[in-house]
Amino acid sequence: MKLADNKATLSFSNGSPSIDMPVYSGNIGPDVIDVRKLYADSGMFTYDPGYLSTASCQSGITFIDGDKGELLYRGYPIEQLADKADFLDTCYLLLNGELPVGQQSKDFHKLINQHTMVNEQMQFFLRGFRRDAHPMAVLTGLVGALSAFYHDSTDINNPEHRHIAAIRLIAKMPTLVAMAYKYGLGQPYMYPQNNLSYAGNFLRMMFGTPCEEYVVNPVLERAMDRIFTLHADHEQNASTSTVRLCGSSGTNPFAAIAAGVACLWGPAHGGANEACLKMLGEIQDSGGVAKVGEFMEKVKDKNSGVKLMGFGHRVYKNYDPRAKLMQKTCDEVLKELGLENDPLFKLAKELERIALEDEYFVSRKLYPNVDFYSGVVLSAIGIPVNMFTGIFTLARTVGWIAQLNEMISDPEYKIGRPRQLYTGSVRRNVQR
Ligand code: CMC
Repeated sequence: MKLADNKATLSFSNGSPSIDMPVYSGNIGPDVIDVRKLYADSGMFTYDPGYLSTASCQSGITFIDGDKGELLYRGYPIEQLADKADFLDTCYLLLNGELPVGQQSKDFHKLINQHTMVNEQMQFFLRGFRRDAHPMAVLTGLVGALSAFYHDSTDINNPEHRHIAAIRLIAKMPTLVAMAYKYGLGQPYMYPQNNLSYAGNFLRMMFGTPCEEYVVNPVLERAMDRIFTLHADHEQNASTSTVRLCGSSGTNPFAAIAAGVACLWGPAHGGANEACLKMLGEIQDSGGVAKVGEFMEKVKDKNSGVKLMGFGHRVYKNYDPRAKLMQKTCDEVLKELGLENDPLFKLAKELERIALEDEYFVSRKLYPNVDFYSGVVLSAIGIPVNMFTGIFTLARTVGWIAQLNEMISDPEYKIGRPRQLYTGSVRRNVQR
């Protein structure tokens, strides 16, 4: 970050002296006002619940231009990565800053493949859960439990240890997600098969059984890989900020990632694709396309509490670029599976058409986000609705760990400690 030519001056109407604050520029995107000395200089905090105008860190990993609808990983547009790189190359890029070339790519794929197995003890840990537990509850527990298995080798101040933790997390997450699924079904776990691709291996661990050979469908494998790439990182979103805040205390990296998993679970974040598919199912059950108008009226009624799930985004005030790619993937998967006339897909397209013409959505700049079509694709692949956020977890793990490692290697990093505007009781005495 570099000092901009101008500075910000804060003046007060009560005659207190004004305060100058430095302004910094990034490489692209808005400048930031450095308020770090504001409290020392004025005795005041800034107030920004929900971080609407607050840059919590500097980062060189992901850039979003919400007005243009652009998403860059390390400078590369998401559309180009989705077409020209696979998920593991994207992981390498997010972790190291550059795309791997030639042998680097092969070595990285091999390295990840060599760490896919989890400690056998993990099975016994899993057994403590009810079979009907939500997979995200199970995953929060399993990822947190990794910290107990690898606690000794995770000195976060050691770059080599941070690298090992990153490799382990990326490699083991598909195994854990598939184990959480198989446990719920009561089927045997499938051990990873390392000659398969990352996505192919995951599909086999999810849908294969020891009783017969599982043949990976290349169209579904490609779709799965693309879903992973589209979800790999997304700047300082709620779960990433959670991982950074949790990790800022110097905690075990697996524990910090578990905090991210817990945050991602919520329906306003990673749970949105699950909520979106449920919404589509409910509209379908109540009469399908014919009932779309009625549903939209409820969405626009502030008192109904109904939202159009998969629409709107804190940062994108234009089409989410991931949504376009997801719609294309959706077309490819449905065609491959002979589901071109899938009623939920048709319903989603109709909802999108109406919303994009409706004044309510147009004036608020509400566009489809990545989750609008991802639920339709995942469900066509055979992934049950309650596993959707687990897939997102798997994919976002690389983003979390890349951001955590970036934070720890930043010389300006400090433990995160927000302040508050206190509105509770003033000091009083206990009367007894
Ligand atoms: N349906 C109906 N109205 C909406 C929606 C929606 N999906 N999203 C926002 N609005 C309205 C909102 O009521 C508000 O209206 P008004 O100005 O009249 O009060 C206006 O649009 C601005 O919304 P906001 O709540 O101030 O925006 P936000 O930045 O706080 O919320 C959001 C962003 C994603 C939480 C929200 O758009 C939402 O709940 N969307 C549905 C859930 C969803 O799809 N989430 C996935 C996000 S993408 C995945 C990820 O990156 O994690």
